[in-house]
Order: sequence, then structure tokens, then C-alpha cells
Amino acid sequence: MSIKTRKVAVIGVGRVGSHVASHLVTRGLCDELVLIDKDTQKAESHRIDLRDGAAFGYHRMTISCGEYSDLDDADVVVISASGPIVEENRLLELDNNLSIINEVATKLKATKFNGVVISITNPCDVVAQYFHELTGFSVIGTGTLIDSARLRAALSRETGISPRYIQAYCLGEHGNSQFVAQSHVSFMGVPLAECLKDQSGRFDGLDFAALQQEVIRAGWDIFKGKNATEFGISTAACELIDAIFHDDGRVLPCSTLLNGQYGQHDVYASTPCVIGKEGVQTVLELNLTIEEQVLMAQTCDIIKKHRPAVK
Ligand code: 2OP
Repeated sequence: MSIKTRKVAVIGVGRVGSHVASHLVTRGLCDELVLIDKDTQKAESHRIDLRDGAAFGYHRMTISCGEYSDLDDADVVVISASGPIVEENRLLELDNNLSIINEVATKLKATKFNGVVISITNPCDVVAQYFHELTGFSVIGTGTLIDSARLRAALSRETGISPRYIQAYCLGEHGNSQFVAQSHVSFMGVPLAECLKDQSGRFDGLDFAALQQEVIRAGWDIFKGKNATEFGISTAACELIDAIFHDDGRVLPCSTLLNGQYGQHDVYASTPCVIGKEGVQTVLELNLTIEEQVLMAQTCDIIKKHRPAVK
């Protein structure tokens, strides 16, 4: 009986990639984990450190430092390789990261890999699309999955309702032009408009403009205190990996190629998607208000403007 092991590779085991690896081990989300990084000593130290954690796991997990040639049979490859973050505007990281992404794309394309790529490297939407165009692989950008989680956490703080029961999406760019689809915020499945009639006062005073700014600033606010974000973004990436391996039709906001949704074509931007074993199974289009449609067009234009030509 052949049992398919779940194999994941993390390319770039810096602050984000190493936490993706750590979550994978702690949650037992894969059976084989390959770490790839130019700094082989760092990768080896992470491997040993992760191995120690895996000793508490409930099933055997093989953790190795590898090469691209080890990725022929990988199911998921996570791209978290990145240059230093120097700007609040993630779009300005593109020049630093382009050469890194070109190298990763060239090496991965030379393998027999045919799984799903989860692209974290910023600017996320631009890089995810560039990588998809360079390689032809199924590429999902983590996009506003982390921003939507930040929004749900903020709404939970304001209302006292668990984030688990709040549906709320940030759409468009994983960056300064993203926006909250306020028309689709719901609590326990009850639309916000209905909740606002609630007499308990629980939903009074929700300031979505302020919440949107809080979410947009969150990455930089975290970075200023510790020179990285790592816990939230790595958890988001692992949620996508878990959804792929379970193939359970999970709906998650992430960066994907829009092909007509919101009137947009040939641009990666975040919208809720149905995730399965092949990656994005269905791109969902929310029925936005006129104002939200304008914001979606604006954010997609910004992403398009920063896309590098694929040579
Ligand atoms: C974040 O917002 C790294 O852009 C990522 O945490």
C-alpha cells in the first residue's frame, strides 16, 4: 500500500521561514520538511532545533537541509527568501527581492516539482504573480490572509466576540492600498448592518476607517519593535498549507490571479478563495458596494503599476 507522505520545503529560513517550519513541526502539518537557505549553517542549526521539537510530536517527521534537487516530489514549496525590510511601503522592497526571486524561480523550474507554491516574499502580490509567470507553477500569495486575521483580531477586541466567529476580509494589495470590505463583515453569520441594531451596545462605535489604518500599519508597527514580523505571517502560511493537504474546500482570503473578478484581469490581488489540493480551486468575487469597487480598482492599479516585466 503506498501512502503519500506530505512533503514541504521552505526556501529562505530567516525570521518568517523558520517560524513557518516551526509551526509545521508543532502542528504536525507535514511528514517531510526540507529547509533551503544560502546560509547553510543557519539552516543546519534550525534543522537540529526543529528536530528537538519534533521529538514531542505524535508522528515521525523527517527534517533535512536540502537542495532544489530534493524538491522533485515536494507537494508544497514556501518562498520566504527576502532581502532586508527597509521601507514601510512593501512595494519598495521589490528591487531588493527581484534577484532573489529570479534565482529561486530558475532553480525550482529546473526540478520536476509540480506542486503548489506559497509565496510570502514582499511585495507579496507582485512577487507571487512574477513567480507564477516565470515558472508556470500554481502560486498562491499569502496576500491579505494575515491582514484579514489582524482585522478579525481588532474586531474581536472591539466587540468581545471570538475572532473564530467573525468573518471579515481585507481585499486587494497586501500593502498600503488594501481595504476592508465592510459590506461583508459579519459576526456569527449575522451581517454587520443587522448587528448594529443590537441593543447591547456591543457593536456601537466601530470605526472601520481607524480599523483599516490599524491593519495597514500593523506590519510596520510590529517591525519597528523587533525588525521582523514572524508569528502571524507564518501562521497564515501554515493555514494555507493545512487547507491544501486537507483539500477540504476551506475559504481563505489570499493573493491569486484575477481573471474577470471585480472587472480585473491579469493581476494578482487578494480575495476569498476556495483552497484545495491543487491550490486555489475557485476565486470568489464579493458583491461589493460602488465605493468598494472603486477601492478594488485602485488597489489593483497600484499592483499592476509595480509589476516587473518577465524577461
Ligand atoms: C506582514 O505584514 C511580512 O508583510 C508581512 O507581516
